[in-house]
Amino acid sequence: MKSIYLVGFMGSGKTSIAECLHKALGWGLQDTDQMIVDYYQMSIPTIFEQKGEAVFRKYEANMLHNTTAENTIVATGGGIIENEENRQWLINQGNIIFLQTSWEEIERRLQHDSSRPIWNNQSRDKQKLLEDRTPKYLEVASHVIQTDNKTEEMIASEIISNI
Ligand code: S3P
Repeated sequence: MKSIYLVGFMGSGKTSIAECLHKALGWGLQDTDQMIVDYYQMSIPTIFEQKGEAVFRKYEANMLHNTTAENTIVATGGGIIENEENRQWLINQGNIIFLQTSWEEIERRLQHDSSRPIWNNQSRDKQKLLEDRTPKYLEVASHVIQTDNKTEEMIASEIISNI
């Protein structure tokens, strides 16, 4: 079967739900952020600091194109949909699940996070970023799953019954 791509904002649970699906379906598991770290041998914060966001976005697009097309759960980075080519590429794949999480829930989950350069950039308005990105997630999504007040297992089984 076609691979499942999880898209959504930082803190929407893409990585942990991908792990749940991986266990439930026995499919392969890929994470574009982890692929970047492994391939370029640099942490995400270091890439942002030393190379800048534009270079990170190029690395991210490269990794997206290297994901496996079948029987794989792919967790993507929250900004993957910023790039129009990535959006088109995702639309062509088919199974794209948008994990939609409210701003209040995202803020609660990431309140102590220090690993995400964009989340930790005080000069960026993250709530506005979520608003700006939401139409782009919706554009690529074949299924939209609301994640507030649900366990990872509930979300994973909702995805399985939808694909
Ligand atoms: C980003 C989200 C991060 C990571 C990078 C940029 C973003 O992934 O790709 O820090 O632009 O929203 P997560 O969505 O897994 O946090």
